[in-house]
Amino acid sequence: MAEPILEVTGLVKHYPLTRGVLFKKQIGSVKAVDGVDFTLGRGETLGVVGESGCGKSTVAKLLCSLERPTAGAIRFKGEDITRLSGKALKAVRRNIQMVFQDPYTSLNPRMTVGDIVGEPYEIHPEVAPRGDRRRRVQELLDVVGLDPEYVNRYPHQFSGGQRQRIGIARGLALRPEIIVADEPVSALDVSVQAQVINLMARLQSEFDLSYVFIAHDLSIVRHISDRVGVMYLGRIVEIGRDAEIYDHPTHPYTQALLSAVPVPDPEARERRERIILTGDVPSPADIPSGCRFRTRCWKAQRRCAQEVPALAVPEAFRGTGGPAAHASACHFAEEAAPVTPAAPEEPRPDGDGPG
Ligand SMILES: Nc1ncnc2c1ncn2[C@@H]1O[C@H](COP(=O)(O)OP(=O)(O)O)[C@@H](O)[C@H]1O
Ligand code: SF4
Ligand SMILES: [Mg+2]
Repeated sequence: MAEPILEVTGLVKHYPLTRGVLFKKQIGSVKAVDGVDFTLGRGETLGVVGESGCGKSTVAKLLCSLERPTAGAIRFKGEDITRLSGKALKAVRRNIQMVFQDPYTSLNPRMTVGDIVGEPYEIHPEVAPRGDRRRRVQELLDVVGLDPEYVNRYPHQFSGGQRQRIGIARGLALRPEIIVADEPVSALDVSVQAQVINLMARLQSEFDLSYVFIAHDLSIVRHISDRVGVMYLGRIVEIGRDAEIYDHPTHPYTQALLSAVPVPDPEARERRERIILTGDVPSPADIPSGCRFRTRCWKAQRRCAQEVPALAVPEAFRGTGGPAAHASACHFAEEAAPVTPAAPEEPRPDGDGPG
């Protein structure tokens, strides 16, 4: 793997759960992020996927220092950035920028596009002197495929895809090294999603960026990710190179998510086994003991309730060097039954074979 630019270890964010208005009493905690580990290589894209509520946005905010973790560390180029303040914090924030999910609500409707894209320069005037800002903003609009003459327009004059381009231009303004994109295409029409993803892929090489690309659907991150991490209830349950995750998943949750991904080939669609997950996602305020996926896992056994499975290469695959040898937090990790091949043609009973 490339030299790490971001190393995340034991990242935790718990929100206190309180009761009472005047005398707030803590009655528990929402374990939004509950022990996340991963490394992002320079120039790499890590896809992070999981159902709504599993803690993806909280991870994004922690990475961008918009929230402080309850525990754990985030290292940016080797330096722990989780306890910084003042100037040092400001400098790090400049380098790790976020692109938000919803282009309809994340842009201030009363600001012009020029002001929106140039706003980061107000906080970091050292990046662009005042007299140079308009030109910089126009350059950024051009880079994301918008007409530089649009600087004086307002967000409502743009389509969803164009607004997300504005959000991306703003994310680029400070020339960050890392962009954390929190479901950047989830609110867009399917036809527009690919355009925005292609734009982000192009910008990655042009600006030498490393990406954390968040999505709730595995199919969206496939083409842009070098590696993919699958989250469930505040943790990564499986992580590996994209071919390892898409073609050789060993965690039951990933296998279930993949079985629901649309397959264009009708024959393959017929043959594959659809895994329907039963039961609801448990509350992050009340996480099951042992393996947190066990209440929905069809393979769960007694051990699963007693022992937390570590996110590591499962013993069965250790030393094999094959694509199943990637980290998976399951006591009984195994490769999914391969897609059942089409039934062989039945020989005809009358022996009237070919030839
Ligand atoms: N500020 C907060 N206070 C309390 N609970 C929160 C807060 N932010 C998020 N949560 C809870 O943490 C969990 C994870 O949320 P989030 O990170 O937004 O998930 P995702 O982005 O995967 O949908 C959810 O149950 C959510 O309700
Ligand atoms: S550890 Fe047990 S409950 Fe968890 S995913 Fe594996 S088999 Fe299922
Ligand atoms: Mg979210």
